[in-house]
Amino acid sequence: MKKAAGSLICVIAIALAAAAAARIHGIQAVIAIGVPYAAFAVLLLGLSWRVIRWSLAPVPFRIPTVCGQEKSLPWIRSNWLESPHNTAGAIARMALEVLAFRSLFRNTGSRLEQGPRLVYREAKWLWLAAIAFHWSLLVILLRHLRLFVEPVPKVALLLARLDGFFQVGAPVFYITDALILAALLYLLQRRMRDPQVRYISLFTDYFALFLLLSIAVSGVWMRYFARTDIIAVKQFAIGLAIFAPAAPKGVGAWFYAHLALVSMLAAYLPFSKLMHMGGVFLSPTRNLANNNRAKRHVNPWNAPVKVHTYEEWEDEFREKMVAAGLPVERP
Ligand code: HEM
Repeated sequence: MKKAAGSLICVIAIALAAAAAARIHGIQAVIAIGVPYAAFAVLLLGLSWRVIRWSLAPVPFRIPTVCGQEKSLPWIRSNWLESPHNTAGAIARMALEVLAFRSLFRNTGSRLEQGPRLVYREAKWLWLAAIAFHWSLLVILLRHLRLFVEPVPKVALLLARLDGFFQVGAPVFYITDALILAALLYLLQRRMRDPQVRYISLFTDYFALFLLLSIAVSGVWMRYFARTDIIAVKQFAIGLAIFAPAAPKGVGAWFYAHLALVSMLAAYLPFSKLMHMGGVFLSPTRNLANNNRAKRHVNPWNAPVKVHTYEEWEDEFREKMVAAGLPVERP
């Protein structure tokens, strides 16, 4: 619990520091302009560094993790999706993984019951919360384009219309706001309540969750309760995007807290486990076709070895073998 409390205190401290600094004239520009630019620079450099390092890692062999029959002899039925033997199959498997979290869908939970008896059960809640969180986050980020782009992209308008389907007064209530909060709260309570998950949880696991939760909470608070001046935010955000920044006027402490927390997330992302977002695409256990039986893969940096093939050996001893009555491949 100490780790959870520590990370919560860190996140609250960031939000409070930003909200307090926003009241001090002169520091506003640092929080509104300096911090986001610095965080974005760290994000870009960090992401590039991670992706370049991953892409330079040698992958001499095909090492996909599969759970199906590999393609080999024509009379053995292979499984094109579980053990894809070509790029199309690998892309299909990867797409299902990224879009539907297919491997997490098969997640099971274990429990020691009376006996003692170890029982495995289906565990779909984790999958449901994960998918609700990730899809909501994507929709929220796409909807945020309306703050940065003028005219507002059609995709942002369409998503806002679909997301606001359950309009209950003004401002329009977005389903994704409720979903992201519920999913993050579920993920957090699961980490704290389940003794096994709690045992393996680190400070950084809680920090990432609290950071995301605080961003969502501050955003929701701004939208439904504090009512931030969206025109001022939009002017400010477009200024940031076109590198002509000016500190926003009259946007309130919640906006500064929201922005500082988002900046923290951006700067922290490349060094955190949240990088699984990019890593999944570069994982050789996922992105390779399993054609190990169909194709011979030779390690490209194998040291040259002088070999003596069977053909050469037979050429050398053919006469003696024939004389001794031994079978030969080429008479
Ligand atoms: C990781 C990035 C971000 C996340 C996850 C996030 C999340 C949210 C959420 C959940 C809301 C509630 C309302 C809604 O869903 O639209 C919100 C609102 C808001 N966010 Fe963000 N946000 C992010 C980045 C930003 C950035 C970079 C800015 C500004 C430069 C920003 C400005 C705002 C504003 C002004 C609102 C209030 C919108 C309204 O009143 O309709 N957000 N945010």
